[in-house]
Amino acid sequence: MHIKACIFDLDGVIVDTAKYHFLAWKRLTDELGIPFTHEDNERLKGVSRMASLDIILELGGRSVTDKQKIEYATLKNDWYVDYITRMTPDEILPGTVKFLTELRKANIKTAIGSASKNTPMILERTGIKNLFDGIADGNNVKNAKPDPEVFQTAAKLLNVKDEYCVVFEDAVAGVQAALNAGMKSIGIGSEKILWKAHMVVPGLSEMNLEKLKLFEKAN
Ligand code: G6P
Ligand code: MG
Repeated sequence: MHIKACIFDLDGVIVDTAKYHFLAWKRLTDELGIPFTHEDNERLKGVSRMASLDIILELGGRSVTDKQKIEYATLKNDWYVDYITRMTPDEILPGTVKFLTELRKANIKTAIGSASKNTPMILERTGIKNLFDGIADGNNVKNAKPDPEVFQTAAKLLNVKDEYCVVFEDAVAGVQAALNAGMKSIGIGSEKILWKAHMVVPGLSEMNLEKLKLFEKAN
């Protein structure tokens, strides 16, 4: 393949907000008396807020009214926002700034592809908005991963064809979304979980331009 753009998921790839999502959902599930483990949480990664709530209610065998759903989602988001308003640039995951800077020097475009409606606040708090040429997030995308819409939107914003994009993802649903868009994907995390990705690295600190060029040749 030929790589013209790299699209990055936000939560769990660029910043470690996955832990805050977990804590906020855990607080809600504790209040509702629904057992909720780290393993259950894997299913929520990359999944939109309302779809995540649906999974949680299903785990607990609960059915509630739409009004209650909105109340629960709002509670969770308020707790989550409480964490992220206190974020600092220290919480940018290791290797991110170095790799993104290297890509841009090499004329490879960069974008965010995230389901999160809180993307603007996170980028602002961590001061890394200027590292991205485009932002596709929960505010300009409707369909949740594994639907490819978020990555297709990012590619359009960058004016790059889908087939020239590589997606960096920590979520199973996100890797699937990249594949559904006809893009190549590099998993961030464990091979056991992200086995569908074309390659898996533990974090962006393990990435550099040279590795990306090797990936380009091999795929
Ligand atoms: C990301 C996270 C999910 C989260 C979703 C929506 O994809 O991985 O855990 O549910 O964004 O985030 P939001 O900030 O809009 O609730
Ligand atoms: Mg993620």
